[in-house]
Amino acid sequence: MKIAVPKEIKNHEYRVALTPTGARELTGRGHTVSVQTGAGEGAGFQDGDYQLAGATIEPNVDALWQNAELILKVKEPQPEEVARLTPEHTLFTYLHLAAEKSLTQGLMESGATCIAYETITDAKGGLPLLAPMSTVAGRMAVQAGAHSLEKAQGGSGVLLPGVPGVAPGSVTVIGGGVVGENAARMALGLGADVTILDKSIARLEVLDDRYQGRIKTVYSTADALDHAVRTADMIVGAVLIPGAATPKLITRAMLADMKQGSVLVDVAIDQGGCFETSKPTTHAEPTYIVDGIVHYCVANMPGAVARTSTLGLTNATLPFVLALADKGWQKALADDAHFLPGLNVHSGKVTYRAVAEAFGLESVDPASIVK
Ligand SMILES: NC(=O)c1ccc[n+]([C@@H]2O[C@H](COP(=O)([O-])OP(=O)(O)OC[C@H]3O[C@@H](n4cnc5c(N)ncnc54)[C@H](O)[C@@H]3O)[C@@H](O)[C@H]2O)c1
Repeated sequence: MKIAVPKEIKNHEYRVALTPTGARELTGRGHTVSVQTGAGEGAGFQDGDYQLAGATIEPNVDALWQNAELILKVKEPQPEEVARLTPEHTLFTYLHLAAEKSLTQGLMESGATCIAYETITDAKGGLPLLAPMSTVAGRMAVQAGAHSLEKAQGGSGVLLPGVPGVAPGSVTVIGGGVVGENAARMALGLGADVTILDKSIARLEVLDDRYQGRIKTVYSTADALDHAVRTADMIVGAVLIPGAATPKLITRAMLADMKQGSVLVDVAIDQGGCFETSKPTTHAEPTYIVDGIVHYCVANMPGAVARTSTLGLTNATLPFVLALADKGWQKALADDAHFLPGLNVHSGKVTYRAVAEAFGLESVDPASIVK
């Protein structure tokens, strides 16, 4: 199969959809891999690394797209990329269509087959191609929050591990899913006093068992949130309610109960955020202060650590890329009930129900297309 890897063009996107390691796997199976000049640079991969893996480097972006059957990307296609798509293309990337009406329409009009990373499932009920980026964001949350606690950043001047004779700082994580657990692990590793709040008893049981009391678990209630704002030096927002807007769990009025210079890290900002005073920020200016509380609300946290993020993401995508290349999209999806929900748009039709419902469109069952 002819596979193309364009350079990402979304602002501040440094990741790449295929590493030289992945290119070697594909070329070793007889596939043709064409990588746009400089596509891997932001993640630390040079054109020569891809050439050593058997790929060709294509400086001409028109030729890259025109000659491809399978296109591998990271971010949703930008308007100039949508314009390049044809019915002959299979696109495999993050799409997040339910929030993007014009992108959905553009992909339908292109006639292409569009498979989204984020709607692929696994046997444990998880989202295996979202999890690596949640892991990155969770781990980064505490790193960013610890930096924000420094005086020069407007923080309270607390060092999370404390020092001998001085108690450690206190970190509360709201939402103990993939992001929350990874944030808590990092905070624990730094020596902070760590508490996780969650609404799911089953999840709290898993965390309690895994960390044997080293991370405190608390059922998430209004009382628990009141206690958290009064005591925590850092609160990480990591709540997700699938298919619903994130609830505003900490209101502006509650900030008055927090210690001045405490830090709110709202990782859930990409879904609207779980603090009333959160608004999306960028890596160029990641924090702002409201009522003396430092807010860190970067919507694409993994972008700052593009090398690790690329490696984590491509480890997770590679088995699916190999299946697409070896079998073609129809058989690859038909053979794998967890891969099948990845199909979002095919030949002008929406094939993922939640996306169709979001825009009042007809939805076609993907199983009826691949059989
Ligand atoms: N900013 C970024 O760069 C970035 C990167 C990755 C993920 N995220 C976001 O982080 C958020 C969390 O993602 P995840 O992968 O950890 O999700 P997840 O589904 O693994 O975990 C969410 C957890 O929130 C819990 N929860 C729901 N309502 C709650 C409440 N009222 N109080 C406490 N806990 C509650 C759930 O029980 C679940 O355990 C999502 O909004 C995701 O989009 C952001």
